[in-house]
Amino acid sequence: MKTRSFCSFFSLKHFITLCTLPRIVVAESAWNGYTPTQSGSGLFTSFYVPPGAKGYFATSSLLLYKGCWDTNYSPLFENKAIRSTSQKKASVSLSFDGTGIELFGNCEKRHGNITVRVDSQPGIVINTYCDSSHPRTGQRHYAKYDLPLGHHTVTVVNEDGVFTVNGFVVTRVATSSPRSVSSRGNSPTWSLTQKGSTGVSAMQLAITSNKHAIIIDKVEHNPLTIDGIPVWASLYDLDTHNLTPLKMESNSFCAGGAFLGNGTLINVGGNPVVADHTSPSDFGDLDGLQAIRLLEPCDSGSCSIYENHDHLRMASPRWYNTVVRIDDGSAMIIGGSKKGGWINNQTVNNPTIEYFPPKDIHGSKGLPIQMPFLKDTLNSNLFPIAFSLPDGRVFIAANNDAMIYDWKTNIERRLPPIPNGVRVTYPMTGTGLLLPLSSQNDYEPEILLCGGSTVDDTKAGSEISSQDAASSQCSRIVLTDEGIKAGWEVDHMPSARTMPDAVLLPNGQVVIVNGAGTGISGYGNVLNQVGVSNADNPVLTPCLYDPSAKLGSRFTSDSMPTSDISRMYHSVATLTPSGSIMIAGSNPNLDRSELKYGTEYRVEWLDPPYKHAPRPEILTFDSSIDFGRESNLGVKRVNSDSNLRVVLMDFGYVTHGVHANSRMVYLDVTGRSGNTLTIKGPPNGGVYPPGPGFLCIVEDGVPSPCVKILIGDGKGPEVNPEATENLLKSTQVDQYEKSKAKHSKGDDDSE
Ligand SMILES: *[C@@H]1O[C@H](CO)[C@@H](O)[C@H](O)[C@H]1NC(C)=O
Ligand SMILES: *[C@@H]1O[C@H](CO)[C@@H](O)[C@H](O)[C@H]1NC(C)=O
Ligand SMILES: *[C@@H]1O[C@H](CO)[C@@H](O)[C@H](O)[C@H]1NC(C)=O
Repeated sequence: MKTRSFCSFFSLKHFITLCTLPRIVVAESAWNGYTPTQSGSGLFTSFYVPPGAKGYFATSSLLLYKGCWDTNYSPLFENKAIRSTSQKKASVSLSFDGTGIELFGNCEKRHGNITVRVDSQPGIVINTYCDSSHPRTGQRHYAKYDLPLGHHTVTVVNEDGVFTVNGFVVTRVATSSPRSVSSRGNSPTWSLTQKGSTGVSAMQLAITSNKHAIIIDKVEHNPLTIDGIPVWASLYDLDTHNLTPLKMESNSFCAGGAFLGNGTLINVGGNPVVADHTSPSDFGDLDGLQAIRLLEPCDSGSCSIYENHDHLRMASPRWYNTVVRIDDGSAMIIGGSKKGGWINNQTVNNPTIEYFPPKDIHGSKGLPIQMPFLKDTLNSNLFPIAFSLPDGRVFIAANNDAMIYDWKTNIERRLPPIPNGVRVTYPMTGTGLLLPLSSQNDYEPEILLCGGSTVDDTKAGSEISSQDAASSQCSRIVLTDEGIKAGWEVDHMPSARTMPDAVLLPNGQVVIVNGAGTGISGYGNVLNQVGVSNADNPVLTPCLYDPSAKLGSRFTSDSMPTSDISRMYHSVATLTPSGSIMIAGSNPNLDRSELKYGTEYRVEWLDPPYKHAPRPEILTFDSSIDFGRESNLGVKRVNSDSNLRVVLMDFGYVTHGVHANSRMVYLDVTGRSGNTLTIKGPPNGGVYPPGPGFLCIVEDGVPSPCVKILIGDGKGPEVNPEATENLLKSTQVDQYEKSKAKHSKGDDDSE
């Protein structure tokens, strides 16, 4: 390593002739603090310059240095050079055009405080000290992403100790300021507002309390950090739009999730360390393929995620699995692929289900149970669409097929294929819902599947194009003997969509948002990629579906606002307790990117007309309601003559177009006196699997804000200690890592 020193004028016209030379010894290149020891390979790229952003390295002539600085050259540095100073008030500044700025530098024991000032804003003091005697390069000392698009100047002044510059990254994501679009007319109408940022890319979304949504991403260079280290999960405050970063140990890339009967959220599966085929980044995370992560929802926002693979894991690796809460309050974990990749195939398929907590059922002793349906539906069968039905069986759609699985007898009942060759699961992603259940028709279940693709799933990526048309088809079936005999009823959305999200509203209507008019899910696989997106032609206007209207007149996009944010692969949408629809995500990229179609952190709020109307309210309620039990609600009504209904909703766990556990049940109203309603809990766990839900009253189609309650006794699913013990005893942790090691020795790891 070579060192050169130079001095330049201070603005106070002092010419510095003497410089001390701090010796820089490079030990580890890292990101923001440290490289976790598990990482091993050390490939994690520090000083990440997202595609579309611009890096200004330490020796760039556009950086203006004042005072005495040393330049240290080493091939280990970003762009082979860093600059450092130990002189008080020595400074570096950069003028740039963009919307954000990041500062990267070293930390170690001799490093001290710096002041960072952007434009004329007050300076922020940052301590670049870290408890290490070796300098760690590539630490992100400072980041600001919400500057107005335009010309800015950042100045960094050394206050004490040593300060080392690796460089700056200028981000230029066009973050328009909060914006509201309303449709025409002066009657209450739909509106779309952009407000808030998710901090991590919103791949997975669930409402955890009256106040919070959890957002889960894969490991990537997200702006949200803990101790300077990027995180891949956040808690979003629905009232203040503030974020709490959540620490997670393993990579939750394409995990599924569900709430259990006791209200605990599980996040299941994910991705191995991806260095081998998703270079350049090894994020130093744990293999998440067998992970079960627990979160106890909390109103305070101080909840944390627990994981410990030695004691808590799945029996088998699963990427792109679906998790459904079933009628006993436990979770059924369905399918997935045994290792990372794209479209499923026989080699990587995991055609089994398992339960959490593990069950000893059909001789399984806690281990996976074969599901032939998942073999017969290859290749496009990941993230199956699944719903627990009122009789306790589970509807599952995968690829072009569907069935009803009786988990108690382990019997599959195959249903007619989805008409016209439409595939509905990853990467030919559609979306699905269980339509509202009511005692009025004895809880007759009806399934709606929308969007997807008819692209041949045996084709290689090189034979598929981002311009291949998506499907506009919606298929609907009543799951009674008679309904199955009648088969699927076909309808069409106003426009074709792959990767749509279907969101149930408390008034029984369905909003379909997000998605692309062409292409399929994923990135980097097909012809004519846009950036690296496998899809193109984002559909920017939501549509409304009225399940009770006549065939042919159920859809409308009239008076729906159009967004200017494309939401394709890794986008989400959910109903929130206030009745607004939260829309977030889109990231058809391996890592944070600002190219078309870049990593999208902005949140939009789609408000139905009822948000602008006088609304009823629930004033008092019981926080838990057991099956078949009566409970009193104190309500504020808008119109005492109104048509009043009480609904119980599960907003679901949303990822990849799958709204797992999404559900709406009309509760029977058994009494009314003044402002008190007596309602009856759902009859059993088939109609509403025990666990959390949201309760709302609906007057003439106008819902109140919803309140979180728990259905059932809250005790949670039965635990079978022998099954758990057998699972832990007879399966290994992180099987993918072991199979990978075997693979690199030349063995075939296929089964
Ligand atoms: C940086 O500032 C903090 C207080 O803001 C102080 O405790 C610390 O000693 C300073 N660091 C150095 C190296 O002087
Ligand atoms: C809920 O049940 C699961 C499975 O038995 C358990 O791991 C979790 O700790 C329980 N949560 C609470 C709050 O008891
Ligand atoms: C199956 O999928 C994996 C993961 O994407 C891939 O590595 C492998 O080449 C595929 N195998 C076949 C036979 O297509």
